[in-house]
Amino acid sequence: MGYPGRLAVLLLVAATATAVVAHNDTGEHKNYLVIVRAPYEYDTNVYKNVSSWHASLVSSVCDQAKEQLDADPEAATRLIYSYRNVINGFAARLTEDEVHHMSEKDWFLKALPEKTYQLMTTHTPRMLGLTGPMFHPGVWNRTNMGEGMIIGILDGGIAGSHPSFDGTGMPPPPAKWKGRCDFNSSVCNNKLIGARSFYESAKWRWEGIDDPVLPIDDSAHGTHVSSTAAGAFVPGANAMGSGFGTAAGMAPRAHLAFYQVCFVGKGCDRDDILAAIDDALDEGIDVLSMSLGDDSAGDFAADPIALGGFSAVMRDVFVCTSAGNQGPLPATVANEAPWLLTVAAATTDRSFPADVKLGNGVEITGESHYQPSTYGSVQQPLVMDTSADGTCSDKTVLTAAQVAGKIVLCHSGGNLTNLEKGSILHDAGAVAMIIIFPVDAGSVIMLKAHALPATHVAYKELDKIMAYVNSTQSPSAQLLFKGTVLGNRLAPVVAPFSSRGPSRQNQGILKPDITGPGVNIIAAVPMPNGLPQPPNEMAYKFDVMSGTSMAAPHIGGIAVLIKKAHPTWSPAAIKSAMMTTADTMDGRRMQMLDQDGRPANLISMGAGFINPIKAMNPGLVYNQSAHDYIPYLCGLGYNDHEVTSIIHPAPPLSCKQLPVIHQKDLNYPSIVVYLDKEPYAVNVSRAVTNVDNGVAVYAASVELPASLSAKVTPDLLGFREMNEVQTFTVTIRTKDGQTMKDRIAEGQLKWVSRKHVVRSPIVVSRKKFFKENAMANNGQRVGDS
Ligand SMILES: *[C@@H]1O[C@H](CO)[C@@H](O)[C@H](O)[C@H]1NC(C)=O
Ligand SMILES: *[C@@H]1O[C@H](CO)[C@@H](O)[C@H](O)[C@H]1NC(C)=O
Ligand SMILES: *[C@@H]1O[C@H](CO)[C@@H](O)[C@H](O)[C@H]1NC(C)=O
Ligand SMILES: *[C@@H]1O[C@H](CO)[C@@H](O)[C@H](O)[C@H]1NC(C)=O
Ligand SMILES: *[C@@H]1O[C@H](CO)[C@@H](O)[C@H](O)[C@H]1NC(C)=O
Ligand SMILES: *[C@@H]1O[C@H](CO)[C@@H](O)[C@H](O)[C@H]1NC(C)=O
Ligand SMILES: *[C@@H]1O[C@H](CO)[C@@H](O)[C@H](O)[C@H]1NC(C)=O
Ligand SMILES: *[C@@H]1O[C@H](CO)[C@@H](O)[C@H](O)[C@H]1NC(C)=O
Repeated sequence: MGYPGRLAVLLLVAATATAVVAHNDTGEHKNYLVIVRAPYEYDTNVYKNVSSWHASLVSSVCDQAKEQLDADPEAATRLIYSYRNVINGFAARLTEDEVHHMSEKDWFLKALPEKTYQLMTTHTPRMLGLTGPMFHPGVWNRTNMGEGMIIGILDGGIAGSHPSFDGTGMPPPPAKWKGRCDFNSSVCNNKLIGARSFYESAKWRWEGIDDPVLPIDDSAHGTHVSSTAAGAFVPGANAMGSGFGTAAGMAPRAHLAFYQVCFVGKGCDRDDILAAIDDALDEGIDVLSMSLGDDSAGDFAADPIALGGFSAVMRDVFVCTSAGNQGPLPATVANEAPWLLTVAAATTDRSFPADVKLGNGVEITGESHYQPSTYGSVQQPLVMDTSADGTCSDKTVLTAAQVAGKIVLCHSGGNLTNLEKGSILHDAGAVAMIIIFPVDAGSVIMLKAHALPATHVAYKELDKIMAYVNSTQSPSAQLLFKGTVLGNRLAPVVAPFSSRGPSRQNQGILKPDITGPGVNIIAAVPMPNGLPQPPNEMAYKFDVMSGTSMAAPHIGGIAVLIKKAHPTWSPAAIKSAMMTTADTMDGRRMQMLDQDGRPANLISMGAGFINPIKAMNPGLVYNQSAHDYIPYLCGLGYNDHEVTSIIHPAPPLSCKQLPVIHQKDLNYPSIVVYLDKEPYAVNVSRAVTNVDNGVAVYAASVELPASLSAKVTPDLLGFREMNEVQTFTVTIRTKDGQTMKDRIAEGQLKWVSRKHVVRSPIVVSRKKFFKENAMANNGQRVGDS
């Protein structure tokens, strides 16, 4: 199957049909990722190592004009990275001419121009991010908190001397650890065993990244994420005085290997990401967690997380990624490859009520973790921003005359961040601020500390405030700070920012896979982002952040625990254990909600909210080896060269020689089918492995809307022993044999034994979401009608 995604690459080939290329090394060099065509491999008889082979490939194009090369001091260092595990290829500084020339070489597959990835938290006030509700002594007890395991984190830097990374009482890393920690010996310890910065590609692209770079945290993101996954116990943790408790990561006794690939204000360079994964795989990590990605779907053959992730899974390293923060728009999910776990974000059951009491006695629900004790809660005049957009972005309105001694109501948005607005209001003498969240955020409030006492209110509360304001000449209000409350029964709610499916790259796979805690998460930071003076010493060391970035390391830490308990489980088995045991009910025992108050659909939450206790013992798993993804990739339309390049270092192959695995038939723990043609029936095949001890009998049950029917064959599965595999088929059809009336239907398949319920979400769609799988973002949306 041809598809337009390759045009960008082929263009380089087409441009120089004749062999003679006048080399111009004085021209501008740029970073390229060059992928070598299989079966070209480095010959150990000729080259000392893979990088000397790659260097020879580079010089085969730039040596042509030797005299110019000699005049070019950079020429010797053209090779940026020589990859061993993740791809058959290298990153190099090349001119366009050189790339043209390379494209004529037999060994050349493609050259990708530089590309930037992003961390998946935003620092805008719209997206603002613990671990409390996730404490599970039962799981910790059984897994010794992940002791002896290594989690690798790719992110933007780490505050290594933070108490969350204190090595006291930690055993030394296991013998398989081959990595290194570049901080000095007062920072590196048995907790933080690895810390390196990958900037060889970034330094060519961005100012201010000079060697030697230590992976120092410049944005708080990497420290926050690392402590969420594997932070040590820190008593007295709190954010601005709220949420007091002992902080700990999901796997508090796991070792942490940190790889910096992102730089504040710049981003994460693709080739640095690949290099970090390349090294991490040789260094001995067990789990890899990456809260970064590219929101515009990239095809797997050009994406460092998909390429590196595949090599990781081949080595039984579990890979956890964040879904992205482009929600609630559909088809925004990132990191979609089926060998990755893609994590969506939801609220936790912890809240920080900071209500607004209006002059008429009506109380409006608000939330703020910054609840300064210096705030004297009395009724004070309430004013609103009277400029056009009401966002308090117009500094001419926010004058002392307007706001001094008053409580000011501001909408989110406008030209200033909410933090900046608070600061201006504070300077102008305002006593407090009420931020109205955008309508899109629904019921979910993402918190930030402010320069003055403030609270955040959901959009739906605005009417009550306006009705009161309209009813009086002199409106007044006060904030009621109510501390930290656990046990909010409306949680989890899918976060508005959490990117939604369907998957553009593989629309036959449900993405995101699972949901984790990602709203108002308290975890370690180098320094809090908030403006006010923290009220206590520890409040300098912890802060609140929100994002799918915060959700992924929760699940990464839990993956460490599962792997510790079940060292022989494949990454696919661990993923299945998490997905088939996830919760779809919230604290009310009702269907989990989306931010807009409607039941969360499967393309928002995947299989549901992680349940670590159940994930430890799922009963059955949908297992597969890394090799099982290969015929699946062929089925997606990747050609032999691209498949070979994704699966490197597995040997080259030809799709023709493999059985085809259709998307619906990949042995995945969720099911997506399209009833897009007659007879409006489809068979889905799956295999389950018994991972519990002893004899068990499972009965199938399928829930689908009344217009659809499903038949499971066989509908009873008996297991006599551990690791026994049984296969079954699910036939899903419309009852009347006609096209579906609804665009989409959702349901679930359950295998139920005396001890276990093994649940798979089912999405049935009337037609394909996109004409083809997107590959390189060229997929076209199919009309919604
Ligand atoms: C080399 O390339 C640069 C930039 O493309 C161009 O300005 C210059 O004229 C070229 N020099 C030669 C000798 O071709
Ligand atoms: C590869 O071999 C070259 C040439 O002997 C040497 O300079 C280089 O350090 C080696 N690289 C690695 C990664 O071992
Ligand atoms: C698990 O917890 C129980 C109760 O706290 C304790 O007695 C037991 O020693 C713990 N087991 C392990 C392996 O830590
Ligand atoms: C080690 O590094 C930390 C952080 O960079 C620094 O504060 C400290 O002074 C260093 N200690 C020594 C002994 O060099
Ligand atoms: C926001 O900035 C833009 C561009 O600078 C300007 O045109 C607009 O008037 C500003 N809006 C407000 C509310 O200040
Ligand atoms: C308040 O008054 C404004 C302007 O008079 C009006 O547009 C708005 O609908 C009123 N809101 C409520 C909730 O009464
Ligand atoms: C799953 O498949 C892998 C690869 O074939 C195998 O190593 C593993 O034992 C299987 N079972 C589980 C539970 O992971
Ligand atoms: C599903 O499988 C059954 C049994 O093998 C077969 O009879 C039927 O035709 C299949 N249906 C479709 C739509 O492939």
